[in-house]
Formats: sequence, C-alpha cells, structure tokens
Amino acid sequence: MSNTQSQNCTITLDGKTYEFPVIIGTEGEKAIDISKLRDTTGYVTLDIGYKNTGATKSAITFLDGEEGILRHRGYSIEDLAEKANFMEVSYLLLKGELPNKEQFEEFDASVRHHTLVNEDLQNIFKTFPTGSHPMGQLIAMISSLSAYYPKALDPNRSAESKNRTTLRMLAKMPTICAMIYKKRMGHPVVYPNNNLDYVSNFLSMTFKHVSEPDYQPDPVVVDAMNKLLILHADHEQNCSASTVRLVGSSQSNLYASIAAGVAALWGPLHGGANQEVLEMLEQIKADGGNVQKWVDKAKDKNDPFRLMGFGHRVYKNFDPRAKIIKKTCDDVLNKLGINDPVLEIAKKLEEAALTDPYFVERKLYPNVDFYSGIIYRAIGFPTDMFTALFALGRLPGWIAQWQEMLNEGQPIGRPRQIYTGHTPRSFVPRGERQ
Ligand code: SDX
Repeated sequence: MSNTQSQNCTITLDGKTYEFPVIIGTEGEKAIDISKLRDTTGYVTLDIGYKNTGATKSAITFLDGEEGILRHRGYSIEDLAEKANFMEVSYLLLKGELPNKEQFEEFDASVRHHTLVNEDLQNIFKTFPTGSHPMGQLIAMISSLSAYYPKALDPNRSAESKNRTTLRMLAKMPTICAMIYKKRMGHPVVYPNNNLDYVSNFLSMTFKHVSEPDYQPDPVVVDAMNKLLILHADHEQNCSASTVRLVGSSQSNLYASIAAGVAALWGPLHGGANQEVLEMLEQIKADGGNVQKWVDKAKDKNDPFRLMGFGHRVYKNFDPRAKIIKKTCDDVLNKLGINDPVLEIAKKLEEAALTDPYFVERKLYPNVDFYSGIIYRAIGFPTDMFTALFALGRLPGWIAQWQEMLNEGQPIGRPRQIYTGHTPRSFVPRGERQ
C-alpha cells in the first residue's frame, strides 16, 4: 500500500533555497523526505534518540500519541484485544488481513507443526548457571536456531524458505520460553502438545509437571494471556523493532535479527520496565506503601529513581494498552480469587502521579508495562520472566517489520554523525610523549 500523497517544502541554507518533497501518510502524518539532503546541500540532520525522525514508511501499525490511538492494519487495539486471538493477530500483522476460517486453520496448523525444538537445544541450557536472567537465555536460544536451520542464513533464499523460517520462529518461541521457566524451577521439560491452541500449549508446557499430569490451563488465564500477547504484538518503530530492522537491513537472518530485538527489549527503559515495575511496587510495599514519598522521589532530579511503567516517547495522553490491561488485571485477579496488595499500591501510585503537576506537565501516564506484571505474577510467572513474555507477544510484530523492510529492498541502515573530536594532529613516538 503506498497511497502516500506528497507536496514540497523549501529550506534555505547559506543563502541558497532547496526544495524537498513532503510525504503525507494515509492517516495524515507528514514528513520531509530528506533522502537527497546531503547530496544537494552538504548538510545532514542531527536528532539524537530519533525523537523527530522517521526511519521508514510502514503499513503495519498506526499510533497517535496525542489521541491514544493504536491500530494494526487498520483494526483498533480495543477490537483486537476483545474479539481476536493471538494467532489471528499474528496472521494480521504478517499477512495484512485477518484470516478467514480456512486461512486461520491452515496457519494455526502450520505453526503447531513446528513447535518442537531440537533436543540438543537442552544442552545449551546446561551451560547457564541456575538463576541466569531469562532474557540472556532467550537471546542465546533464538540465535542458536540459526545453527539448526542453516538454510535460513540466506533471508532471500526463497519465499517458501522465508515463510518456513517465520513459522519456525513463531512456533518455537513459546517452547523456548517454557523451557527457560522449567530450567529455572529445576523441573523436567514438558513437550508441546499440538492438540492444544497456541496459548494453551504455552501454558501447558510451562505449568504442567510430572506430579500434575492432568493439568488443564484455566480458561480465565488462557483469555488473559491471549489479551496480553495481543496488546504487546507490535508498536511500530519502537527501540526493539528498529533494532530488528537495522540488523535485518544488513541481510542478516531472521533468528539473528530477532535475537537482537530481544537484546534491545531487555533494557529497563523499554520492555525490561515490566520487571522493574513489580520490583518497584514491592519496594514501595516493603517501605510501608507511602506512594507520595515515591512520587516525590521520581520528581527529584538529584534522585536517580524513576516511576517505572510511567511515561512514553509517543503516548502523551494515555497508553490505550495500559487502560485495557488495568481492566484485565481487575477481572483476572477477581476471577482467580487473588488479592495482590501491590495492585492497590499501583492504583494509588497512578492516582497520585496523575494529579501531580510534574507528571501532568510532562504528560507522563501509565504505559503498557505498568499493570502487566501484576497479571503475569497472578498467573504464576516469576518476575524476571516478564520481559520474556513481552518478547513472546512482540515476536509477530518484529517479524512483520523485518519482512516489510526486506520485501521493500530497503538499503542497509547506516546513520551519519557530526564529528566533535580532535582536529588533525601529528603522531608522537611513545618515548617523546609527556
Ligand atoms: C515501552 O517506544 C515504544 O513504543 C515502547 C513500548 C513498546 O510497546 O514497544 O511502548 C514499550 O518501552 C514502554 C516504556 C517502558 N519504560 C518505562 O516505563 C521506564 C520509565 N519511563 C521512562 O524512562 C521514559 O518515560 C521513557 C523511556 C519511556 C520515555 O523517555 P523519553 O521519551 O526519552 O523522555 P525523557 O526521558 O526525555 O523524559 C522527559 C521528561 C524528563 O524530565 P525533564 O528533563 O523534562 O525535567 O520526563 C521525565 C524525564 O525526567 N520522565 C520521568 C519519567 N519518564 C520521563 N520522570 C519520572 N518518572 C518517569 N517514569
């Protein structure tokens, strides 16, 4: 889809006037296309953190940070979270359309067909000390898939090879995440049961064990997990998706590109925030639950503490995902009969921050990570698994972004810089240096 309109803009530099095309997207977003800027003017732009820079055109996800809008291929996140399941949304992100009955059944069956991982992958687990962070294990395991499927090393081998690699990556991610959990618990691995749907299979591989052979995932938990995975499925050019695109732009294979995306997501300013939020809430609870004290700490420029799960580069009114997750949190804990005191602390923290001028002026609201961990914990996941669950949800989005970049034949990403180091100086032999 490329129904972007265009007009022109003029820039005057050193007394000369230049014309550049303006690109207008299907939702009215505007960009100055500076592809020819350096060749025509000798200037580059500087935008540390890319706060004002578009890296690509894309037809996958649209967000409006001011209005709190998130849509995938035109469908609202509210509709998808309420009415679809994660496999449907994965298909939508990858193929551009929601699947009909036959298309869904074929896609779902193809994914189920690839859920098993090579038995030797378990040997890699044996090299990790117990208690290793799941994200480090996940990076290693995903990257190791390139060793078992060498034909995937050429991302342009064929459409059929690209499709099979996509299915393998989608199918094996839940198996690997469940293996990481089993390793942490010191329990034997539970193999995939391909009679189960994607989410039920993941929950079964994770929580079923030898002493409970008849384990069946609670439908409340299956529904909540589907919703959480959908809410994390894609988010346009965030830090990790941009990493996947940049690594993939060098013609690196899908496994390496996804492993790089997991590495970027790990950071506490990005997906790692969901673990940090729970640890922060527990710290506030242990400190007596005085939320105002911690809101004040977050405002104090001399204090490195930040309110984790608050603020967003794009959303400046509210994160639509946070609203849905907060409601899901109440539903799931009520249905499971769980009374988690940190949920009340989270709500009080949100209330205190949203009435505080510091947060209001900076347009800082709860983001996707603020409530998600409370649900993950209620389901039974350890805190340091939360970001791996974020990666499980984000996977179809990363793959869709990687495919879009590759299918458009985009060039290798290679930003420019402004050099601010030493000007030329002569080499002094070591014996003569001061
Ligand atoms: C995700 O990009 C995506 O789409 C990401 C994501 C996705 O789905 O892929 O939505 C997922 O990563 C959500 C964000 C998770 N991270 C956190 O919750 C960590 C806490 N939040 C922040 O560190 C921060 O808000 C960021 C990283 C999310 C955004 O940072 P920006 O856009 O670079 O903004 P900034 O750091 O320049 O902050 C602007 C001001 C600063 O104050 P001043 O210098 O203007 O006085 O707001 C303040 C910041 O100090 N600020 C905070 C704050 N977040 C920003 N102050 C206290 N607590 C916070 N959480």
